Amino acid sequence: MSARPHNFNAGPAILPFEVMEEVRESILDTNGSGLSVMEWSHRSPDYDAVRGEVAERLFRLLGLAEGHPFKLLLLQGGASMQFAMVPMNLATAEHPGAYVLTGVWSKKALAEANRLGVGHEAWSGAEANFCKLPGEGEWSVPDHAAFAHITTNNTIFGTQFAGLPQTSAPLVADMSSDILSGPIDMDRVGIVYAGAQKNLGPAGVTVVLIREDLIGRAPKGTPAILDYQTHVKADGLYNTPNTFGVYLMGRVLAWIERLGGLAAMRERNESKARALYGQIDDSGFYRGTADLGDRSIMNVCFRLPSEDLEKKFIADAKAAGMVGLKGHRSVGGCRASIYNAMPPESVSALVAFMHEFEQNNG
Ligand SMILES: Cc1ncc(COP(=O)(O)O)c(C=O)c1O
Repeated sequence: MSARPHNFNAGPAILPFEVMEEVRESILDTNGSGLSVMEWSHRSPDYDAVRGEVAERLFRLLGLAEGHPFKLLLLQGGASMQFAMVPMNLATAEHPGAYVLTGVWSKKALAEANRLGVGHEAWSGAEANFCKLPGEGEWSVPDHAAFAHITTNNTIFGTQFAGLPQTSAPLVADMSSDILSGPIDMDRVGIVYAGAQKNLGPAGVTVVLIREDLIGRAPKGTPAILDYQTHVKADGLYNTPNTFGVYLMGRVLAWIERLGGLAAMRERNESKARALYGQIDDSGFYRGTADLGDRSIMNVCFRLPSEDLEKKFIADAKAAGMVGLKGHRSVGGCRASIYNAMPPESVSALVAFMHEFEQNNG
């Protein structure tokens, strides 16, 4: 096979190469069944084993021991459907959801709550163009709030909360772009949700970890498929899940465990991010866009001295075998997404390319 490009796409994104090889091997005959996982019934013992293994591995990685209060749902509809499900299930006009606005995705989450008349803005970074996050004590959750909502990693602006805040109301965390990038303090959350297509697997699976006391609160009239309780009662089989996506996610979780789990993942990610930010900071040519203390270890956003140079940078990088470096269409600039699966060698290749590009164009 010809060399694969270094894949810096923001999502769907790079998957661990050894997982892709493993899945290629099993695509016609999964787990010795003689059939592909894509051809199994979702109610078969074969699929039961696959989803059971996913739950077991995920709980183990998160340090959730026997008797923990979380249910795992493997849904569809993406994180965007959770923007709607969370307020539908948990908030009312008297007890709204309190949202910390740190970028495009949290704005969309609040917009869904506002459609229902159950949203409250707790903080907004819009004036600073979302280059920074609120410090401790800079935002508060009103006493009557049903939950506090944050986006832990802002994929588009390249900012990331260093840890989960302690909140008075249950914390709901959109972790779409940094789930499992390091350990997660599950004692601090009520709900974690994430689209799979960055750190967990292919697009089309949405992970929801929900604390038991937050299930069964949807008001009468909530469509069954949008009520968390429906999925819990049906043990994850209310409707046909993305069986292949869940299978692949299981392989990714096994890969994370082989690499040493979430602490090892954090170290690997921090080291990659350090290399890239180091290259940016050591030059007068590149400029990081996020505030120093709030920089993401998943999405490294930077600018060049002009938009013409940014275009050339992206084109030359592509010619050199590096794809996905264009910033989100809403903000421009450049962005290197370096999720869990991104090998350190690809980051080294990018750092070397950036150095050379600066020498030739700076
Ligand atoms: C932080 C965050 N939240 C939500 C979304 C939307 O996810 P989906 O496309 O799965 O609905 C994204 C997509 O990139 C994201 O990065």
